[in-house]
Amino acid sequence: MSKTYRAGLVGCGGMGRHHLNVLNDLPEFELVALCDIFPDAVNKSGDEYGVEARYLDFDQMYDEANLDLVTVATQTRGHHGPVVAALRRGISVLCEKPIAIDLVEADGMVAAAEASGAKFAIHQQNHVNPGIRKAQAMVQEGGIGDVILVRGRNKAGRKSGNEFMEMGTHVADMMLCFGGVPEWCSGDGLQREPIRRTDGHYGGEGDVSARSGLWIGDGDTRNSALRFPRRHLG
Ligand SMILES: NC(=O)c1ccc[n+]([C@@H]2O[C@H](COP(=O)([O-])OP(=O)(O)OC[C@H]3O[C@@H](n4cnc5c(N)ncnc54)[C@H](O)[C@@H]3O)[C@@H](O)[C@H]2O)c1
Repeated sequence: MSKTYRAGLVGCGGMGRHHLNVLNDLPEFELVALCDIFPDAVNKSGDEYGVEARYLDFDQMYDEANLDLVTVATQTRGHHGPVVAALRRGISVLCEKPIAIDLVEADGMVAAAEASGAKFAIHQQNHVNPGIRKAQAMVQEGGIGDVILVRGRNKAGRKSGNEFMEMGTHVADMMLCFGGVPEWCSGDGLQREPIRRTDGHYGGEGDVSARSGLWIGDGDTRNSALRFPRRHLG
């Protein structure tokens, strides 16, 4: 019989609840502990999924719940803490995208994974999307002829900071899936007006762009050009 892995979740919000549904459906995993800083959130999920061990502090959960793996589904600015704390205890981690708010945090998370020997993955679910996999196979088999351009574009309609850092990670990830790791890239940005701390973007969904120093607001645009190894352009 295959091993059953003891799984926990940090962040019982919107995406966390998707992970709970999946973990609950997979026979290889036993959902044993939940954590959120808000009692209402952790209790709602705990009641719904029948999980008794509920925590408001991820360190305490890691120390007490004997986890094999944890899913981290906090907002991006809150990924680094619970990820590094888990990896340091040898607990494997599936963390929501985008990996972190900046490269310093991202590098720290990768270094913690390398030092721990535990597994660390970012949830870029398009890698297992059957439609994307079919398209990749068609490209690899030459089914659509020579690829000369890989074009990625967001669906728009959200704040630009959110589009760039939160949703853009899916677009960039897919472009790399089809094109490989770029040999070079260049980019430009147009900022319509400076973003101030009092703007809605700050602390809200544009928080990622504000914290990362990119300061992207409504109406701003970012364009990038990439050169892929097989000489495709992006
Ligand atoms: N893969 C996808 O397609 C996809 C889709 C949506 C969101 N996401 C990602 O999922 C992440 C979460 O987004 P969301 O919309 O679910 O956020 P959310 O705000 O709905 O949920 C985050 C939860 O984390 C909790 N939390 C915050 N700090 C915590 C801490 N220190 N310890 C424990 N819990 C804590 C919050 O109280 C909240 O309940 C983001 O990184 C987002 O980019 C990914």
